[in-house]
Amino acid sequence: MTAEFIKVCSPCDLPEGTVKVFVVQGKRIALCHTEGKFYAVADLCSHDDGPLGEGELSDHMIECPRHGARFDIKTGKALCLPAVRPIPAYEVELRDGELFVGICSHD
Ligand code: FES
Repeated sequence: MTAEFIKVCSPCDLPEGTVKVFVVQGKRIALCHTEGKFYAVADLCSHDDGPLGEGELSDHMIECPRHGARFDIKTGKALCLPAVRPIPAYEVELRDGELFVGICSHD
């Protein structure tokens, strides 16, 4: 299924090493900037709906502030307990100096 790319912000709104939450087409998305690249995952931990966007970002992992589950922000894969299920990960593109997140209607 083809993703629809929605403009969320300018790269300068998201300094290296930070995470910001945006609501994109009704979904809460945690946009992450690490090692010069941008990634987007759901702002919703698969363990118990913790706010991942408030979690600690390190390398390509984000840690849930609620019980410490960690997720790969490239793939959404759960990396440690207590989470076992992945979270949605979204494509991010830089177009004309703005960041766009790709959302599929089935996500
Ligand atoms: S809600 Fe995220 S680890 Fe429990």
